[in-house]
Amino acid sequence: MKIITSSIVVLLLVCLSSFVHSEECKNAYNEYVCVEIDQFCGNSTSTINYNCKYGLYCDDETSTCQRTVALNGSCTTSEQCSSQYECYDGECIEIDYLQFGETCKESFECNGKLECNNGTCTNIYGLNNCTFNSDCPYEQYCLSGKCAVRTADGSTCTDTLQCMPQSSCFNATVGVDTPICKPFYSQALDSPCSLDMECDESLGLKCINDTCQIDPIQLSPASFNCNSTASVAQNETCFYYEMCVCSAEATATCQVQSPVTTDQVKKCGAPSKAHYQCMATNKCLSTGQMPSSCEISKCGQTYCDLKVNCDQYSLFYSSPSCSGEPNSYPNYIAQMCIELGYGYGNFTPPASSIANSLSSSITIKLTFVLFSLIVFLL
Ligand SMILES: *[C@@H]1O[C@H](CO)[C@@H](O)[C@H](O)[C@H]1NC(C)=O
Ligand SMILES: *[C@@H]1O[C@H](CO)[C@@H](O)[C@H](O)[C@H]1NC(C)=O
Ligand SMILES: *[C@@H]1O[C@H](CO)[C@@H](O)[C@H](O)[C@H]1NC(C)=O
Ligand SMILES: *[C@@H]1O[C@H](CO)[C@@H](O)[C@H](O)[C@H]1NC(C)=O
Ligand SMILES: *[C@@H]1O[C@H](CO)[C@@H](O)[C@H](O)[C@H]1NC(C)=O
Ligand SMILES: *[C@@H]1O[C@H](CO)[C@@H](O)[C@H](O)[C@H]1NC(C)=O
Ligand SMILES: *[C@@H]1O[C@H](CO)[C@@H](O)[C@H](O)[C@H]1NC(C)=O
Ligand SMILES: *[C@@H]1O[C@H](CO)[C@@H](O)[C@H](O)[C@H]1NC(C)=O
Repeated sequence: MKIITSSIVVLLLVCLSSFVHSEECKNAYNEYVCVEIDQFCGNSTSTINYNCKYGLYCDDETSTCQRTVALNGSCTTSEQCSSQYECYDGECIEIDYLQFGETCKESFECNGKLECNNGTCTNIYGLNNCTFNSDCPYEQYCLSGKCAVRTADGSTCTDTLQCMPQSSCFNATVGVDTPICKPFYSQALDSPCSLDMECDESLGLKCINDTCQIDPIQLSPASFNCNSTASVAQNETCFYYEMCVCSAEATATCQVQSPVTTDQVKKCGAPSKAHYQCMATNKCLSTGQMPSSCEISKCGQTYCDLKVNCDQYSLFYSSPSCSGEPNSYPNYIAQMCIELGYGYGNFTPPASSIANSLSSSITIKLTFVLFSLIVFLL
């Protein structure tokens, strides 16, 4: 599973963040290596952090960085597959991405318990036998093993489960204690809320003391060299929503792991709101984020914008050694976004990073021909 690779990266970064600044940073920072194709990328006994360059993955068997495999290419593990593809029956393909009622050819395409029946992803056990909401049509949810009709926006509710997939159950108006279903990211300034994502984050609003407000939060200055073991009184620690992370050989700086300032909340909130609206309009459930899923095929641009603008604050977003390239966790997402033409923020992939396909063998042959020619001429 691709998740395992990402957890290792997270683990390494979390370990790193527990280092104190100055001397300790020198070692931690130096022990980050950006790895080219065919070069060693670490094994179970490695203590150094290795990052394969964009378009490469760390192959477990050879402990070297290898090119990811394109759609329909042959594979033995999902790690090898580019974008979000999974290795199924020896090929990198899209699996588990179709939702209830979508047109299918094979059951492996259908999400969760659904099977491909007469060309449609269906719950073959019937609507009275569900485990997940995705075992039911979009307008229904799974309640005690049976599909039940969801509550429309604007109607009263007791639980968010009852609302449409992109809506939440909350008191929408000050002084009115009757919760209704309302889309996420829809509450204005000073309106009631119980979760941040009920507030209009595209305006920088967060849920503070049960109302949507601007949080006047400050970040530690970039020039501040933090010491994660120092006490607050020593003025060497970060704010509680920050982490002390090695940022250069002898420097540690305070970094957030999620959007916290009003500008950050707005930056992540605008594409998040747009994405939820797109999903609701197209009746998409969040099934596997494969290129042909409802979510990506209909709302790919907002998905990629959301990923870039929300994930950029997390520590494992970019690889510190590979000049800030997307790290191995967002690498597959970045690949998918770039392959589909949605782009991935400001990142431009190097021309050499195209997934393994005909082009790489052509390149090898061409290189060989050129080399032979040079040898011949000499
Ligand atoms: C891991 O890599 C190191 C350095 O190349 C090597 O010496 C060691 O034998 C490898 N360990 C395993 C378990 O493969
Ligand atoms: C992958 O295989 C599918 C099914 O065989 C085919 O429809 C599709 O065009 C192929 N895509 C690529 C990029 O080879
Ligand atoms: C299969 O689908 C076709 C076309 O949608 C429909 O006419 C037919 O009745 C369906 N057959 C079964 C057994 O559901
Ligand atoms: C649901 O389907 C499963 C799988 O076929 C079956 O074992 C189970 O008895 C069904 N449950 C109900 C309540 O129909
Ligand atoms: C609505 O407001 C009432 C009273 O303030 C509160 O008890 C209840 O938990 C709120 N409901 C929701 C869903 O937030
Ligand atoms: C939230 O409410 C508490 C208690 O009423 C108050 O002390 C605190 O300052 C409030 N927080 C904000 C950010 O308004
Ligand atoms: C960091 O804080 C600890 C605990 O107060 C202190 O012992 C240590 O000397 C500090 N490190 C630096 C480099 O200032
Ligand atoms: C910490 O900072 C505050 C405000 O910036 C200042 O008043 C205080 O003297 C500082 N404390 C130490 C121990 O430097």
